[in-house]
Amino acid sequence: MLPEILTNIPGPVSLGLAKRLAEAECRNTTFLTDDWPVFWERAEGANVWDADGNRFLDMTSGFGVAGIGYGFTGEALRQQSVSLMHAMGDVHPARVKVELCEVLSEITFEKWQGKKGKCLFGNSGFEAVEAALKTAVLATGRSGILSFEGGYHGLGYGALLGQGIGWFSEPFEGQLAKVTRRLAFPQTEEELEIFKKELWKIDGVGIGAVLVEPIQGRGGIIVPPLGFLTELRKWCDAIGAVLVFDEIYTGFWRTGKMFACEREGVFPDLICLGKALAGGFPISVCIGKAEIMDAWPETHGEALHTSTFLGNPMGCAMAIEAIRRYREPETQAMVAAASQHLAAALRTLSDLPAVKNIRGEGLMMGVETDSGERALSAVKGLLQDGILALPDGPHGDVVALTPPFCVSKEAIDFAIGKLRGRLRGAHAPSRVVSGAPAGNLA
Ligand SMILES: Cc1ncc(COP(=O)(O)O)c(C=O)c1O
Repeated sequence: MLPEILTNIPGPVSLGLAKRLAEAECRNTTFLTDDWPVFWERAEGANVWDADGNRFLDMTSGFGVAGIGYGFTGEALRQQSVSLMHAMGDVHPARVKVELCEVLSEITFEKWQGKKGKCLFGNSGFEAVEAALKTAVLATGRSGILSFEGGYHGLGYGALLGQGIGWFSEPFEGQLAKVTRRLAFPQTEEELEIFKKELWKIDGVGIGAVLVEPIQGRGGIIVPPLGFLTELRKWCDAIGAVLVFDEIYTGFWRTGKMFACEREGVFPDLICLGKALAGGFPISVCIGKAEIMDAWPETHGEALHTSTFLGNPMGCAMAIEAIRRYREPETQAMVAAASQHLAAALRTLSDLPAVKNIRGEGLMMGVETDSGERALSAVKGLLQDGILALPDGPHGDVVALTPPFCVSKEAIDFAIGKLRGRLRGAHAPSRVVSGAPAGNLA
């Protein structure tokens, strides 16, 4: 459905909640100004309603979580919550954890290589990344990490080791091990050639993990040229490092394939999944080739890597239902139709002077503008139009568009029409409340 705006944005209820939150929450967390945010009350399909009753069109999928659309795993949650909300993940687990492990193996390593995969669950995406980094140490005996500028893997201390957006880690450098080597993430064929030379110059002796997003998300929706993943695969095989694909954002059709690595037909040793995995429950997983995961010693009652909510039954039941839906041919067709329409609509923006580049794959698209201020003011303007969008990229200059798969053609046209209007107008300087560059709202 198209937006329906009934009040000023933010409306009076949202403004009141913002005031209370400013007193009650760490001030670094929620971006609060007099024109941002709106407080959510309910969501369905591609729409979100705020606490003032305004209906928005969500072009973010709530950080890429909503997958097919808000609520598509709601019935699975309702049924599971009646029987079992919590189990003892690594001690007396829920039945659904077993089923989810099996289905995750089927859709990844069994499909790709005819070999079983094994799972290690977490709650947030960054925990899956940390599970992968620990696995790599155990499998290789090496602590070094190779990762990429602009890479984003979450903000836990382990995950921060791999990320490549400096200001996320700078205040905490003193507590971070110096184990990471970073390379530029190639965007063009020329950059790919430079990357290949740089890669093979690296003495890989200490490197146990190569951590990479097959398509960078928070780094500004960057699609590397074909051949990039192939080269990484070759290098990892040559030096004996574990190749980790962080598909927390790109996984489950976001980029037009079930997994973004399928675009190049290159497969990792470990894959990290989260976000759309359950369509709206904090559950994540690192899945690995069985022979690599078996580097973990067998537990004798005290797991080396676990947590209270590991394999939560509600998350598992929702993920099983989400994957059942993701495997239906209708989902692929829905993604293909919406992607084509979005790409065509975005091409109409290419004549705007403020637009420097339009890029992406599937339903993970970005419009690079001429500045972070421009993108932030466009995103704030879109909020006034009833459209939820986010700035992305290390400089916040990319307007990211990652709608739920069920978004209608009419809704896409509406959103891109409004974006055109917002990018055409002059942009007002924005006020930023944290130390982060303008546009860091995600
Ligand atoms: C590629 C990627 N990896 C990891 C993460 C971290 O996930 P979470 O925020 O759930 O910890 C994100 C979040 O945006 C992401 O985009």
